[in-house]
Amino acid sequence: MDNQVIQTLKQRVNIAEVVRRYVPLRQASGRHMGLCPFHQEKTASFSVNEAEGFYYCFGCQAGGDVLDFYMRINGLEFKEALTQLAEEAGIELKEFRPDPEYDERQKVKKMCLDLHGKAQEYFRRNMNQVTGDTARAYLRKRGTSPEISQAFGLGASPEDWHGLMNHLVSCGFSPEQGVLSGLLSKNEKGNIYDRFRGRLIFPIQNLAGQVIAFGGRIITEGEPKYLNSSDTPIYKKGEHLYGLHQARQAMTRSKRAILTEGYMDVLSLVQFGYDDSCGVLGTALTQDQVKRLAGFCSRIDLIFDGDTAGRKAALRSAEMILHQGVGCRVLLMPEGEDVDSLLQKKGREGLEACFEAAADGLEYCLDTLREGSAPREIVAWANGFLGQLSDNALRAFYLPRLADGLGLSEADLRRFGGMRSPGPGSVPGSGAGQQAAPRAASGGRNRRAVGMDDVSDKKFIEFAILYPDYIAHLAKRGLHNYLTTEWAKSFWQQLFLHKFEDVYQNLCDEDKTFWRSTLDDPHLFSGEDLAEHWESLCSWIDKQRKELMRKDLMQKLGCAHGSGEAAEVRNIMAALSALNAPSREEE
Ligand code: UTP
Ligand code: MN
Repeated sequence: MDNQVIQTLKQRVNIAEVVRRYVPLRQASGRHMGLCPFHQEKTASFSVNEAEGFYYCFGCQAGGDVLDFYMRINGLEFKEALTQLAEEAGIELKEFRPDPEYDERQKVKKMCLDLHGKAQEYFRRNMNQVTGDTARAYLRKRGTSPEISQAFGLGASPEDWHGLMNHLVSCGFSPEQGVLSGLLSKNEKGNIYDRFRGRLIFPIQNLAGQVIAFGGRIITEGEPKYLNSSDTPIYKKGEHLYGLHQARQAMTRSKRAILTEGYMDVLSLVQFGYDDSCGVLGTALTQDQVKRLAGFCSRIDLIFDGDTAGRKAALRSAEMILHQGVGCRVLLMPEGEDVDSLLQKKGREGLEACFEAAADGLEYCLDTLREGSAPREIVAWANGFLGQLSDNALRAFYLPRLADGLGLSEADLRRFGGMRSPGPGSVPGSGAGQQAAPRAASGGRNRRAVGMDDVSDKKFIEFAILYPDYIAHLAKRGLHNYLTTEWAKSFWQQLFLHKFEDVYQNLCDEDKTFWRSTLDDPHLFSGEDLAEHWESLCSWIDKQRKELMRKDLMQKLGCAHGSGEAAEVRNIMAALSALNAPSREEE
């Protein structure tokens, strides 16, 4: 069923139009070219094939269809991307899978989004009127520029119990709807009133830029200092990051995210030119947030207080980030400062000094442990860390580094337990470059096909050499996503990049040898055999693709199951079985 949706979607959505929202494109020799949003470059090697509906970067070999692009640029899971794009394209998912509960939930979400849109309008308008005088003065006092205030859509809520409520009612909503969306509160007597009063308002946006919640800082005196939206149908604490919408493009360029704890900290970081900054929202960092960030960057620079609590939080966060195969560094703030106060007092120079003193994430973990733990506790931690990794390649990456850091031999560390022996799909000790962060080693992508080995890599390269007519088709199917060895990736790049007759002269010696031996002893297919072989290559690629989708869904299933969202679990189960059904027939 998803397949049907995807096909319809690709017919209706123009990939060049979607890409253009994020990347300026210009027409060059019949295709659209631009600067790749997925790696840093000065000359355009990112191309979009409008007619065939795919994109490809000659620089970093990122490529795929419109869904793939949308997922990647927005850090979305497959299902989310599908839902959002389908909505834009006016494809009703229920055409394909009727689900009244889903429809109802979508309706409520839409209403909440509308209400938040209206509320944002109201808070912004106050900011520019007399009612916003104190809020504006407060921002001035704190050194926040009007540009930053504008870019983050800061607003003001007056000391008024019914200001927002009246506005929402005038827009045609009922007070009860305001309560449902978390913007208004209701007391025991049943009276409804504004939740945010006398506060500087920080709108919290999703990746698409829609306002989904608010944070409000008290301007004069009062408790609590910050009031945040509680969970609603459109907002769940621990899922979102403050400022990510504004920062994501900068992050894909710098491949780095600065993560801090406070609203004001984010504003100051951006104001001082660190535009790849975002903040956790009044909670400890969660797996969801790390995953979200991992879609944009390969390293996270954590900023924490230098006190005991800050150090502890940094340890937990670093561990979580390293687990996802993302690099990290830990910056501890000087006593009594946070990023905001540091920047306001000492400017970039002050923060740059902290960057210079920053510890590598893994070393930070080991150092912190060494300080306060007995040797066996440290070893237990290391084993726990390794044991929890779901990815053998990552384990192979960390094992020597942990052993080294603990002064143990790898064999000893392995022997002390926790380690499973690497499975068949792993690349023990190979792939990962010596110094490179793990993300860089796996080509910057956080998802990797399992069970892939260089035998299949070789098979594809051989096939491409023998049947060059198929190269474009293989590219279209996203082969570059599933090649695992560096050798095959760079070989494939040559095949794709040049006219076929020019490929050979561009190969390195080793690859030339491979080319010649492939042609010397060609494994040629005739007629039906070729068709069959092609089918098998395609279905292999398809299987890898589905495997990635399945992994995404399984992860979501775990979350939904954990938080008891029965309807969501049912949806995911349905999607999973839709995914599994065709591939079972194939086998
Ligand atoms: P801090 O107390 O460190 O404040 O809280 P801050 O960010 O430095 O705020 P300013 O500079 O005094 O304005 C850090 C973050 O924790 C959350 C907010 O997200 C805040 O930015 N927080 C804090 C709350 O959600 N509620 C609170 O009452 C306090
Ligand atoms: Mn502060």
